[in-house]
Amino acid sequence: MPAKIIYGKEISAQIRVELKERVDRLKARGVTPGLGVVLVGEDPASVSYVTAKAKGAEEIGMFEETIRLLPTSTEEEVLATVDRLNRDPRFNGILVQLPLPKWVNTDKVISFISVEKDVDGFHPINVGRLLRGEPCAIPCTPYGVVQMLTRSGYSPEGRHVVICGRSNLVGKPLAALLVQKKKGANATVTICHTGTKDLPSFTKQADILVAAMGAPRVITADMIREGCVVIDVGINRVPDPTSPKGYRLVGDCDFDGMLAKAEAITPVPGGVGPMTVTMLLLNTVEAAERQAD
Ligand code: GUN
Repeated sequence: MPAKIIYGKEISAQIRVELKERVDRLKARGVTPGLGVVLVGEDPASVSYVTAKAKGAEEIGMFEETIRLLPTSTEEEVLATVDRLNRDPRFNGILVQLPLPKWVNTDKVISFISVEKDVDGFHPINVGRLLRGEPCAIPCTPYGVVQMLTRSGYSPEGRHVVICGRSNLVGKPLAALLVQKKKGANATVTICHTGTKDLPSFTKQADILVAAMGAPRVITADMIREGCVVIDVGINRVPDPTSPKGYRLVGDCDFDGMLAKAEAITPVPGGVGPMTVTMLLLNTVEAAERQAD
């Protein structure tokens, strides 16, 4: 039987219905959850992410404001904007869109966001809280991966999850999330990376394989076992002369090759991607609920 395809858009739609109800309940208590987004410059990918975040927030009844700063903005200007949002009670969540210009110290800006308003989960204190299993904002992509698994009937509990990629944005926080002794987690986790010798010997052991390496179609069907559940976080551009744009998007996995072998697989695009904005909205609603209590 061909693999079941796990569509992020469908799971996102389901979560957004639940979020709208939570927003309505907060509004009945006099609190409208607010998200402040800081965008420095006009990078097209960043503009399109930020637009999706604003649209998503408005659709579920949240307050959203995007502060657009000039591409020439200084670190002081970015910090001053974050400071203003930190102090403004209308904003329960703050997100500074990355990447920032190279002369702005990203770590300094992230650490300057109020810990309670950091809805990306990038603040070092939230990173520590996640590792310790304490309540915190969970980085959106790993959170989306876990939601996709649990909501499509592939709970990671007791399974061997092999994560390919050790980034601070995906691999490391996902591992921290999955090893927790909690419902929807409690997995055995292996992280593979560029220093791993004999990668296939690890990927073949995976009940659940998460590919987050950022390299097009490097994980092939011969590297997984029959019945593996494959979550592909990669979004890579490959040249495609038949496309009007001259390129198309592919994941880190060979989707077509794996269809006959995997139990389930996420497509690219349309898999993990749509989940990330939804998880940001979820983190903002959770921040508003915590701040209202
Ligand atoms: N740029 C690309 N993805 C992200 C993200 O998840 N958060 C932020 N702040 N910037 C990004």
